[in-house]
Amino acid sequence: MSTPVTGSVPPDHHPARDRDPRSESGSSVARGQISHPQLHPGLEDERTTGSPVLEEAVLSVRDLNIVYEVGDGVHAVKDASFTLRRGEILGLAGESGCGKTTLAYGLNQLHRPPARIIDGSVVFHDRDDGRDVDVLALEGPQLRTFRWSKVAMVFQGAMNSLNPVLNVRTQLEDVLTTHRPQLSREDRRRRCGELLELVGVERSRISAFPHELSGGMRQRVMIAMALALDPQLMIMDEPTTALDVVVQREILQEVLRLRQELGFAVVFITHDLPLLLEISDRIAVMKAGRIVELDTAENLYFEPTSSYTRRLLGSFPSLTGETGDFVRAGFGEADPPAGGDDAGRTASPDQEEAG
Ligand SMILES: Nc1ncnc2c1ncn2[C@@H]1O[C@H](COP(=O)(O)OP(=O)(O)O)[C@@H](O)[C@H]1O
Ligand SMILES: [Mg+2]
Repeated sequence: MSTPVTGSVPPDHHPARDRDPRSESGSSVARGQISHPQLHPGLEDERTTGSPVLEEAVLSVRDLNIVYEVGDGVHAVKDASFTLRRGEILGLAGESGCGKTTLAYGLNQLHRPPARIIDGSVVFHDRDDGRDVDVLALEGPQLRTFRWSKVAMVFQGAMNSLNPVLNVRTQLEDVLTTHRPQLSREDRRRRCGELLELVGVERSRISAFPHELSGGMRQRVMIAMALALDPQLMIMDEPTTALDVVVQREILQEVLRLRQELGFAVVFITHDLPLLLEISDRIAVMKAGRIVELDTAENLYFEPTSSYTRRLLGSFPSLTGETGDFVRAGFGEADPPAGGDDAGRTASPDQEEAG
């Protein structure tokens, strides 16, 4: 029951294994389509140096339903379905309480009671051995290994979850000792140094204790730990929300570069829609537990089909208002969706709300 299974994925959600996995042609996910360099000058270059997004899927989520079994019950995630491609950044947007974190945790069974997955499937398509893993059937040591080595998670408070009495080296090495016991001590040390450099922290900081590092550096160390076993998917839940804007930018730039270099996919959660529009290949908008829209960042911006997405876009003055650098820098002559009215491309702002 807890062993990986094959062939349990509906055909329409199966990775396109018969295609050349390196081929990018035909992908509906194109990079660099949205360009607003004035707003975030550093991020632009990273985005446009060739798409690392492959046609092949890394994760298929089908009709996922998660409830909190309290009182009358809270149906926090309703029929969530999406397919994540290798190397793709999928942004997850939506107001506080709409179910983003619950969905993210459900993807690798990090949810805890009273949360319970009542329906649906999560299938991970492993690049290493070509097998499909029924994630929701994993348990015990298999699940723990899966979480570190296949799908890694970085969340908002992560930087505060470093152990205050252990230095960075000990904590990084611990991951490798547990999951790569065959590594020699020397190799382990070398890998720890490499990982720190990878995330832009000087090797010399390896003997530092968490309190000797800034918040941004601690979050970088957490990202290094998440990357230690070369995961194929990173789930990042508000990973930079607690950091100041400059540090947030720097870290995101690092994540974009690493994604380019290492080819992992990312589920990136934030309530900061302008940020998501910039870094994501596609964006899923959630409302009251449901994904109400899922499209490329560009389509979502220019032609939102959900009135909720339009309202969300309209709630960010930087996207629509007088001082909108984002609009002026990136979207040229085209009309951005105006907030609160029906200036978007679809006919009626409320017609699709049902269901
Ligand atoms: N431990 C819990 N017990 C009961 N309800 C919860 C619990 N955690 C979250 N919820 C509810 O589930 C819904 C989704 O929450 P969450 O996934 O945290 O949203 P988001 O991350 O989008 O802010 C909310 O209505 C929230 O109140
Ligand atoms: Mg959350």
